Amino acid sequence: MRAAAAEILFPKEVIDRRVRELAGQISRDYEGREPLIVGILNGAFIFMADLIRALDVPCRVDFVRLASYGAGSVSSGEIRIGMDLETPIAGRDVLIVEDIVDTGLTLSRLVEILRKRQPASLRVCAFLDKRERRRVPFTADYVGFPIPDRFVVGYGLDYNEKFRFLPDVRVLGTSFEREGV
Ligand code: PRP
Repeated sequence: MRAAAAEILFPKEVIDRRVRELAGQISRDYEGREPLIVGILNGAFIFMADLIRALDVPCRVDFVRLASYGAGSVSSGEIRIGMDLETPIAGRDVLIVEDIVDTGLTLSRLVEILRKRQPASLRVCAFLDKRERRRVPFTADYVGFPIPDRFVVGYGLDYNEKFRFLPDVRVLGTSFEREGV
């Protein structure tokens, strides 16, 4: 079994419906344009793949990987680009796609970095939003689902790099669920 014990928060059908709604909204907002969709690795790749296939506008894709620096296992909260975009973004409509906003540190920093490159527009689409965990103010332009402060996996989200492959979003409530499935 693949994580059968964990509670399902969003089944695949519910995710599919919400992704289509988001894609409809984004397609209307970007009508007549060809946005560059920027995925943040690793978590965003599944959501991004579904989202762009549901768009009614053409798009291009690129990816960034971010690195968090700190002493030992304690993060300083300082976030830098580990793997940068290949695409110059000056004058382009850029839509960042992310799996989850938690403290807001990752996205607020990435937006700050990319804004300096003077894109024509810069927006953020986050699949999940854990609003109560914010440490810095950050509001995504498009959100799939706001969620409570629970540990979720699946649909690209991991626990120690496990469970990204799950087609639905599940809550890992116990250490048994984290280690034993
Ligand atoms: C997760 C997630 C976001 C970030 C959100 O990434 O994918 O990028 O944390 O957290 P924040 O709002 O507190 O900054 P992670 O570093 O776990 O990497 P991953 O995408 O490879 O899972």
